[in-house]
Amino acid sequence: MKDIYILAIETSCDETSVSIIKNGTNEIGTVTLSQMDIHKEYGGVVPEVASRNHIENITLILEELFIKTNILMTDIDGIAVTYGPGLIGSLLIGVQTAKMLSFIFKKPLIPVHHIAGHIYANKLNGDFNFPLIALVVSGGHTDLIYMEEEYRFKKIGGTLDDAVGEAYDKVARVLGLGYPGGPVIDKLAKQGETTYNLPYPLNDNSYNFSFSGIKSAVINLINNEQQKGNIIRKQDLCCSFQDRIVNIISKKTMRAVKKYAVKQLIVAGGVAANQGLRDELIRLANKEKIELLIPPLKYCTDNAAMIGAAGYYAYKKDIISDLSLNAKAVDSYYV
Ligand code: KG4
Ligand code: ZN
Repeated sequence: MKDIYILAIETSCDETSVSIIKNGTNEIGTVTLSQMDIHKEYGGVVPEVASRNHIENITLILEELFIKTNILMTDIDGIAVTYGPGLIGSLLIGVQTAKMLSFIFKKPLIPVHHIAGHIYANKLNGDFNFPLIALVVSGGHTDLIYMEEEYRFKKIGGTLDDAVGEAYDKVARVLGLGYPGGPVIDKLAKQGETTYNLPYPLNDNSYNFSFSGIKSAVINLINNEQQKGNIIRKQDLCCSFQDRIVNIISKKTMRAVKKYAVKQLIVAGGVAANQGLRDELIRLANKEKIELLIPPLKYCTDNAAMIGAAGYYAYKKDIISDLSLNAKAVDSYYV
């Protein structure tokens, strides 16, 4: 069978990333420019600054990718691009670049939903065993997805308010820990103990999540302690916060795994990098004898390799767009 090469472009937030993926699983090469250091200064991603940086970098990293991989545009079978959701100005840079390349080189244009990309990051270090449950935990999503076959996503639950990564980032901001907050809270949590009594976030029988309550509880606690002149034990507060989050996410995920009698649990998104969550899911999956797939750290946060992996399976399903493809800031469907 002929090898299929997908060129992938991801610019939904603050990473400008391009990649070439062979047959959906083999990463030939990826070039990513992170703008994290630029946005750190502002305590979060500034959309206008992000789009400007994408414009400046996209052609440079494409050139670097083709030099590095020794692949020619004529070798490419399709161009996959994140069309949404994300920051509209940022998405547009990727979408316009992909459309231009598709038009000039007459290659199929493959629209990829950012979260489908996160899920398919798992193809870069393993294979899917259907039916499966995908736990999606990122800066914009906290979803439980049921998959019976390739590239078909059925949402069985999701957050009713903040995404889990968003809650991490907001709590970190109030604690003065900088941006992005997840990795710092994760690190401090390891050094602390669960001495603060925080509420369980939406501890019910549904597959939905809610993190705004626990986020507000942490912010109120910090204000109250400061008013009383008490010192906040940051490590303990991070540990208490993470403990509640990890507990509720893994509990609901494992309930879904059992209810849907799936063969595999896969994890996706930036928060899949969280050590506390990884450890707990590994422990529970071992206990319940469920196969678990979590991407290596480099594929958890935004990157074009995952878009290339998803793009290959979309291409196989004939999910091809014409040049009217537009960026979508909000999109609740995964394809
Ligand atoms: O998937 P991602 O790179 O971007 C989105 O699609 O949203 O996720 C970014 C989110 C941020 O909120 C960041 O704080 C969080 O992932 N994150 C973590 C960790 N590493 C990144 N959250 C908790 N623990 C981590 N180790
Ligand atoms: Zn992402």
